[in-house]
Amino acid sequence: MSRTRVKDLLNHTGEDVTLKGWLYNRRSSKKFHFVLLRDGSGIVQCIVTKAEMDEEAFEAIGKIPYESAIEIRGKANADERSPGGVEIHASAVDVISEAEEYPISKQEHGPDFLLSHRHLWLRSKKQVAIMHIRNEVLKTIRDDMHERGFHCIDAPVFTPNSCEGTSTLFEVDYFDDEKAYLTQSGQLYMEAAAMALGDVYCLGPTFRAEKSKTRRHLTEFWMFEPEMAFAGIDEVMDLAEAMLQKIATNVLENCQADLEVLERDTDQLRKALAPFPRISYSEAVERLNDEGHPFEWGGDLGAPDETKISSWFDTPVMVHRYPEAVKAFYMKRDPEDSRVALGVDVLAPEGYGEIIGGGQREECLETLLGRINEHELDPEDFAWYLDLRRYGSVPHGGFGLGVERTVCWLAGIEHVRECIPFPRMLYRIYP
Ligand code: 4AD
Ligand code: MG
Repeated sequence: MSRTRVKDLLNHTGEDVTLKGWLYNRRSSKKFHFVLLRDGSGIVQCIVTKAEMDEEAFEAIGKIPYESAIEIRGKANADERSPGGVEIHASAVDVISEAEEYPISKQEHGPDFLLSHRHLWLRSKKQVAIMHIRNEVLKTIRDDMHERGFHCIDAPVFTPNSCEGTSTLFEVDYFDDEKAYLTQSGQLYMEAAAMALGDVYCLGPTFRAEKSKTRRHLTEFWMFEPEMAFAGIDEVMDLAEAMLQKIATNVLENCQADLEVLERDTDQLRKALAPFPRISYSEAVERLNDEGHPFEWGGDLGAPDETKISSWFDTPVMVHRYPEAVKAFYMKRDPEDSRVALGVDVLAPEGYGEIIGGGQREECLETLLGRINEHELDPEDFAWYLDLRRYGSVPHGGFGLGVERTVCWLAGIEHVRECIPFPRMLYRIYP
């Protein structure tokens, strides 16, 4: 008999099914074992009855350690009280592989222990739910980009120079004493690709050698970066808003069970689907000061400032037109106010902070050269990038969405380290 996935059991009530998975939990009495089997798609309760079973198999299922691999055959009964609405009445149990005593128990472990056992921790209910949500986020991005006619263009991971400033580069030895760096962002390459294909995006790992030990920082994280030719900051904000709404909608719709496992407040999440307010940095600074949160115009917004700003709204908020001095060299200055750049950050609600950064790029060769010099970067390094302004330069823009920070917000998780399968952080690269 072919095997049935736990998530599909509702379509097989009344039938004999074969399940393959791992022993997640067990309660036993003399005559019964209540076994929770997990198979990655879900968890189901199976009742194993002594009277209806080979004696040896009954004994075995009562004593094998958690996470042993098992096969259970039996009847799928509809049962409203069971999680998932189905319960298995087992007629046969096979042990595929008996586990050693499992190191992760059902009681609390500290984060360090769990992170060191990430390869096993990933099996737990909550972690599986987070990975389901991450999968939904990535799928939505790819599907939506495809529907909009954007081309998937992969950016290189080895780069000869920086994109977001030199302070956070990971250096690697390339050949013949040459240095290379792990990419901080695929943006500059997406700009080249946008001039070739129009609307493009990349979705891949990016690296920041930030010595930050906060709940929002990873040294390796995934970024989704769309880039559009013939677009300005307003189109960039439109796309960011539409994408985030689609992502949140799909997670709410397709990950209900996972959100439940995570005890996510879905009413709060649903409120985030309304139109996103767009406020300028200057407006935000004025309101901060009005509300007794002192902030001097000109500085970058820190986490407490972002939290305060996002507390004004239930949806993500788009803060645009930052002082040019706090933003990267490639940002276009506002023609109406040269003190500010046409950049936008999207701050998630509920204090999750910045999840998107982007904006309109400088398209004028001379101005861009000036910026490169001001930022004390070497124009030689950017020769190819400057070429894009020499041969048919057009207004263009895009953004970078941090996948883990977005998942963190949607799933309602405290720390981004649980939103990537194998986190890399300041003090952690194992397993
Ligand atoms: O704001 P950032 O630095 O923007 C860029 O890299 C642009 N070049 C993107 C573009 O326009 N194509 O990073 C974009 C997003 C942030 O908003 C945040 O969500 C995420 O990437 N991010 C991080 N996520 C986890 N750990 C870190 N250390 C992160 N740094 C940035
Ligand atoms: Mg940023």
